[in-house]
Amino acid sequence: MTEGAKPQAHGNGRPRTRRKDDRARQGIVRVAAVGDFHCGEEDTGRYRDAFARVNDEADVLLLAGDLTRRGTPAEFRVVAYELAEVRIPILTVLGNHDHESHQVEAGLAILRERGVHILDGEPFELNEQVGFAGVKGFMGGFGRWTLTAFGEAETKAFVGTTLEEVQRLEFALRRLATPVRVVLLHYAPICDTVKGEPEQIFPFLGNDRLVEPIDRFKAAAVFHGHAHHGTFRGTTPGGVPVFNVSHVLLREQKMGEMYFLYDIPLPHPEAVVEEETHAPPATVGTAG
Ligand SMILES: [Fe+2]
Ligand SMILES: [Fe+2]
Repeated sequence: MTEGAKPQAHGNGRPRTRRKDDRARQGIVRVAAVGDFHCGEEDTGRYRDAFARVNDEADVLLLAGDLTRRGTPAEFRVVAYELAEVRIPILTVLGNHDHESHQVEAGLAILRERGVHILDGEPFELNEQVGFAGVKGFMGGFGRWTLTAFGEAETKAFVGTTLEEVQRLEFALRRLATPVRVVLLHYAPICDTVKGEPEQIFPFLGNDRLVEPIDRFKAAAVFHGHAHHGTFRGTTPGGVPVFNVSHVLLREQKMGEMYFLYDIPLPHPEAVVEEETHAPPATVGTAG
């Protein structure tokens, strides 16, 4: 994000279905984000109408992993069916559930056939100003209690997996030429958005080594899932807003029926802001 361009959510009470042309004129890109809807074969059709509404409400749809229950090709086909009517770009990372059946390549092929962009280290530029970088991330814990690569080879391999994810995120962020960068993860990059889950499992919900590239590249926002009963919003040490967009959490906290909407301001010096001039300070809005 460029200096001075603060990310903000669209405010409560403002129109939810502002047209795409209006958003462009006002210098914003609206992101819709959700993770952890865990499609099973019996869920066919369950989310299709809700996802179809995103065409009018946002410019890009972010899926924060755990799209399926066990990661079978049949479940990925359900996901593709649920997304069939979405016409805006769809970007995704996978979650741990999507890896469960060890059929990731088959699953990714189904998503790609639907036109979903897999953000797993491959960045995506929506336009000349806003780009997206994402990886699944991994676990390991937070702060001074983060697991370190000491002792058994297995422990070193475990920590090494996290470090590889951090490096892949860094490379993806570096490859983006856009001034505004948005990050998508499955695992949490900060502890604050997993709070609400049992403290004993915090180390399995994320790892704050992921924060370093996020803060260094001054991301505009981070969206993640995995901690279904965590906290909706947090902030990195560098001030980047972090949103836990697990589907269960969004619904419980009334942040969105299917997805959370978030406005990313573009660094247009000449951006027309009209109604925004009189709008109250940025607050988190409800959506979908
Ligand atoms: Fe999940
Ligand atoms: Fe998960």
